[in-house]
Amino acid sequence: MSRDIRPSEERIWADIEALSEITDSALPGWTRQALTQADVDGRHRVRESMQQAGMETWIDTAGNVIGVLAGTAGGGRQLMLGSHTDTVEGGGRFDGVSGVVGAIEVVRALREADRRLRHDLVVVDFFSEEPNRFGLSCVGSRAMTGTLGHDTLGWTDSAGVAFGEVLPTAGIDPARVGEAVWDFSKVTAFLELHVEQGPHLEELGTQIGLVETITGVSRFRALFNGQSDHAGTTPMSRRHDAGCAAAGTVLAVERIASGQRDAKGTVGTLTFTPEAVNVVTQRAEMRGEFRSPDGTWLRHAEESLTRAAATEATGRGVTADVEWSTRQEPAGLSGGLLGTVADAVDGLGLSRSTLYSGAEHDAAVLARRVPTAMLFVPSRDGRSHCAEEFTDPAGITAGVAALAQSVLRVDAAEGTTS
Ligand code: GLV
Ligand code: MN
Ligand code: MN
Repeated sequence: MSRDIRPSEERIWADIEALSEITDSALPGWTRQALTQADVDGRHRVRESMQQAGMETWIDTAGNVIGVLAGTAGGGRQLMLGSHTDTVEGGGRFDGVSGVVGAIEVVRALREADRRLRHDLVVVDFFSEEPNRFGLSCVGSRAMTGTLGHDTLGWTDSAGVAFGEVLPTAGIDPARVGEAVWDFSKVTAFLELHVEQGPHLEELGTQIGLVETITGVSRFRALFNGQSDHAGTTPMSRRHDAGCAAAGTVLAVERIASGQRDAKGTVGTLTFTPEAVNVVTQRAEMRGEFRSPDGTWLRHAEESLTRAAATEATGRGVTADVEWSTRQEPAGLSGGLLGTVADAVDGLGLSRSTLYSGAEHDAAVLARRVPTAMLFVPSRDGRSHCAEEFTDPAGITAGVAALAQSVLRVDAAEGTTS
């Protein structure tokens, strides 16, 4: 006899706490960045949880941890859930982790209630969702969807080391990353549970957010080359200061994105060479990004920034080289699937509102291949990508319950042959 699905707050919290102990103690917050030992260890812990939940598991050739709970239809249609467990430097315990732990809890709750799905239920902990030190994000989901691009293996970090060269440290053979492509023709839907990372749900007082659109992202690396000179003797009029050209470009990013609804512009890294207080900067390197739900505006922002960097450089006799590394278009999620999730949320008596996601997610990558929906749960004070990031256990458990009921509804609606 099948019983009600009851996700366990205790199990969810224990999993989150266990992962929060697998972090890099030399860095602040709860840091588990991709391509570090903490991330390798964390993903093995996730795999063990999947095994204990009764799933068949493996790590694919792109580093994704995959678990499958077989359905009654015998290897036909699949339903996919997942998120990521890597973090930004100094990040929190919930970003991505809630979705992976939540998906595994759906499996445990289904089994505990003796409920069999017709679909195979596939849970994925996607590799390197956060931008890594090569400026590359959503690596695992891009590899699974065949959109990673072979050229990314040659992308270099600030020390000139190529992405492909460091992959073996995470147990990944760069020559085999392409083999991770998944056959999405078998996948009925992808669902990702995530913390909101912003203030809206808390302000609205609603328990579940249904994401309609995920932001587009354009990331750049800009290099400015000038001339190093003595800081005390070189007249201001005779300098070729790459640092000043870079500083002007930082402000241009702020100017371009300001006043535009939902647009964001950020410079996250900036390094000067030589790093000396008494030398005019010869070389400056920065990485930054624009985000917007409007793809046309992103193209406009790219052109404006490239022009602004050239202007800042030329006026100082400095050269500017701007490269656009990531160009991810805004992703509209599946209206039909969101309707199913909304019914599941209503059926549980939870409150809901619809949202736009200014954060990037694996769901945006998957949405190009398969009907995709995303559920948010509130973040305290809207804080995220910081150590203070917090969602209370009851809030996450409500999200997991909504995820589980959505899975049941999608499974029942799709005509499989069980
Ligand atoms: C991922 O968290 C992002 O939005 O950068
Ligand atoms: Mn994040
Ligand atoms: Mn995330």
